[in-house]
Amino acid sequence: MNTTKKVALVVGAQGVIGRNLVEHLATLDDWDVIGLARRGGAAAQRVRHIAVDLLDPADAQTKLRGLEHVTHVFYAAYQDRPSWAELVPPNLAMLVNTLDAIEPVAAGLQHVSLMQGYKVYGGHLGPFKTPAREDDAQFMPPEFMFDQQRFLEARQAGKRWHWSGIRPAVVGGIALGNPMNLAVAIAVYASMSKELGLPLRFPGKPGAYDKLLEMTDAGLLARATVWAATEPRAANQAFNISNGDLFRWNDMWPKIARYFELDVAPPLPMSLDTIMADKAPLWNAMTHKHELQPVAYQHVSSWRFADFVFSWDYDMFGDGSKARRFGFHEFVDTETMLIGLFDDLRRRKLIP
Ligand SMILES: NC(=O)c1ccc[n+]([C@@H]2O[C@H](COP(=O)([O-])OP(=O)(O)OC[C@H]3O[C@@H](n4cnc5c(N)ncnc54)[C@H](OP(=O)(O)O)[C@@H]3O)[C@@H](O)[C@H]2O)c1
Repeated sequence: MNTTKKVALVVGAQGVIGRNLVEHLATLDDWDVIGLARRGGAAAQRVRHIAVDLLDPADAQTKLRGLEHVTHVFYAAYQDRPSWAELVPPNLAMLVNTLDAIEPVAAGLQHVSLMQGYKVYGGHLGPFKTPAREDDAQFMPPEFMFDQQRFLEARQAGKRWHWSGIRPAVVGGIALGNPMNLAVAIAVYASMSKELGLPLRFPGKPGAYDKLLEMTDAGLLARATVWAATEPRAANQAFNISNGDLFRWNDMWPKIARYFELDVAPPLPMSLDTIMADKAPLWNAMTHKHELQPVAYQHVSSWRFADFVFSWDYDMFGDGSKARRFGFHEFVDTETMLIGLFDDLRRRKLIP
């Protein structure tokens, strides 16, 4: 490995966020990339992957032992759990185990980037103050993102490296077998509606249809994350990162329906986790009929996450001006992003 280059350690490299980060870094000549995940990954130019269980400190120590050239850690791993309290121990442990393993060997460590989200504002709990700002007061824990940030701030004190916290809205990207993937959930739900000859119905809470929200394109997020990790002014700071536009489902839903050549019917609150539970046979039949990639139904379904997003009957957006004030000026049109993701899913033969 060329030691004059920056070397990225992308933790959670198979995630919705991590995958796009690896892809972006792989386009930059001055970076080498090492991805970490339990399932490993296929090597490419300047990219290699290591299969490691970060919940196991001994495995982390063993597998990360040879990574002395790492200069930047991009932490985007995530362990899903059924309750906010249960999320804390595994998600803190993975970060601690990563730092415990990499810090002693990577003498040239410059930066640790921590992927966060609007959970730091309580956006998942109920109506919260919008637009949320990076300096808004914290709330009563448990919240794993507080524990992670507190740990990182304490660990960084007195060190040569710096940290940054990146706070995206709902992320638009492509990955399979991941618990939080709204675009894939919408695409599969719409494709199944079409297969059954049904119009497209918004399945969320009645009040969620007309509230303001925003998304973050995974590519834009990757560029912002690398920017924050390499811009000296951004050191030891957190940044909201979103597309830059707001939308309401009552405007976006008909556009999604139009893409899938579907009529729109009035919203009807339905738990996708419940009503899609018996749809594996339908998915398998569609896979056969439309000659799709043979992806297991559970790997294309993030129904619980889609239900969660569609339950937000309150505004869900942050103030994105801090990143702009510090020098990151990119934006993405959310409708264009969604259409692009659906096109990509079709190109990859993951939906009809
Ligand atoms: N997705 C969103 O819309 C969104 C929005 C805002 C904020 N966020 C935040 O961003 C972070 C990343 O989210 P994400 O959606 O990208 O997560 P994700 O798709 O579930 O990806 C998680 C990554 O962590 C890896 N991982 C999980 N357990 C591991 C273990 N024990 N050892 C090693 N690797 C492990 C997974 O790979 P393996 O399964 O192969 O191990 C995967 O690569 C989370 O904190 C999340 O809250 C996400």
